[in-house]
Amino acid sequence: MKKIPVSLGERSYEIVVGHGILSDIGSAIGRLGLGPKEMIVTGSTLWPLYGKIVHDSLASGGFDVSLATLRDDEESKSLQTVTTIYDKLLEDEFDRNSGIVAVGGGVVGDVAGFAAATFMRGIPFVQVPTTLLAQVDSSIGGKTGVNHPKAKNLVGAFHQPRAVWTDVSTLLTLSERELRSGLAEVIKYAVIADQGLITALERNISAFSKASSDTLVEIVSRCCSIKARIVEQDERERGLRSILNYGHTVGHALEALTNYAHYTHGEAVAIGMIAAARISHDIDATNRDTVELQENLVKAAGLPVRIDRPTDPHEILQQLNRDKKRVGGRVRWVLPRTIGDVFLTDKVPPDVAVKVLKDMIA
Ligand SMILES: NC(=O)c1ccc[n+]([C@@H]2O[C@H](COP(=O)([O-])OP(=O)(O)OC[C@H]3O[C@@H](n4cnc5c(N)ncnc54)[C@H](O)[C@@H]3O)[C@@H](O)[C@H]2O)c1
Ligand SMILES: [Zn+2]
Repeated sequence: MKKIPVSLGERSYEIVVGHGILSDIGSAIGRLGLGPKEMIVTGSTLWPLYGKIVHDSLASGGFDVSLATLRDDEESKSLQTVTTIYDKLLEDEFDRNSGIVAVGGGVVGDVAGFAAATFMRGIPFVQVPTTLLAQVDSSIGGKTGVNHPKAKNLVGAFHQPRAVWTDVSTLLTLSERELRSGLAEVIKYAVIADQGLITALERNISAFSKASSDTLVEIVSRCCSIKARIVEQDERERGLRSILNYGHTVGHALEALTNYAHYTHGEAVAIGMIAAARISHDIDATNRDTVELQENLVKAAGLPVRIDRPTDPHEILQQLNRDKKRVGGRVRWVLPRTIGDVFLTDKVPPDVAVKVLKDMIA
């Protein structure tokens, strides 16, 4: 078991990563001094798999436990779902001394976290992430929120969890595609901040779900540490935290251009990382080895390295510019210098980006 502290003054908390630890959550949360009532928020298919274990552990830890099960697809990440959580909290007479325990992937964590951030101006919550993406990314850092019909993640709040309780054994029931999608974020962490993680990935990435539980704990906790260190320095994404968007510039554009239906988030990010590394090479900011090492990892993870449908590279660039308007500046690229080191730049010539993207289109 690994414990990773997230030091944010009075909002500090611990991420615990282990194997087979779900049934220990009751006693662990008991030590946090939370109120007597806890509401488990989970997906309806996750309830029998993992929600119930968490429920029983909390109940035997002396908590008065309620339950809200949701549909947990991306369309359900809405204010309407948040309202159903408020309704349930009111029905079960929750007050500011009570808390929420989110058991699920990023959708459950974002929705439940947002309900916790806003109910009675904020009640405590605990994350129990069950997808690889949620374990290495969305459960850490306090971003919560829902989608607006016109834009993803438009409505949200920063609200740090009181603890993150991560059991890597939950990954065994995750679909291959979801698992691979999460691996894109794992590769991202290695490239932005951890050369040492590369060796562990080279050894295990092609059969990740068959890796030993110790290896899974090691890889997941290394990613958590990287995100924790970045969030500690830039909780509200004023600067440094944006390096976590490595691969996401082109990734988001591809997701939007295909109406979020063709690529999973991780697949789009994988393609985005390949594009970023090639752009970096074209502007002489990185060497060929860095580009190839990353491409080999992405391939070994079973993630795409090419854009597999006819797309006009100018259209991708236009989409990037639309994103750019939202943040009010020029396109902000995160590019690798070498493995473990990236930099931010808004000086990528558009024709370099177009050329790189053109070469990547099938
Ligand atoms: N808050 C943040 O900082 C942050 C960061 C990245 C992504 N996100 C958000 O996270 C969401 C995506 O999260 P996700 O990739 O975890 O997907 P998800 O929550 O949509 O889950 C994917 C599917 O896997 C199922 N599932 C979850 N755990 C399972 C398990 N252990 N076994 C079997 N099935 C399981 C779910 O029921 C769901 O059908 C997006 O909405 C994204 O915006 C948030
Ligand atoms: Zn991502």
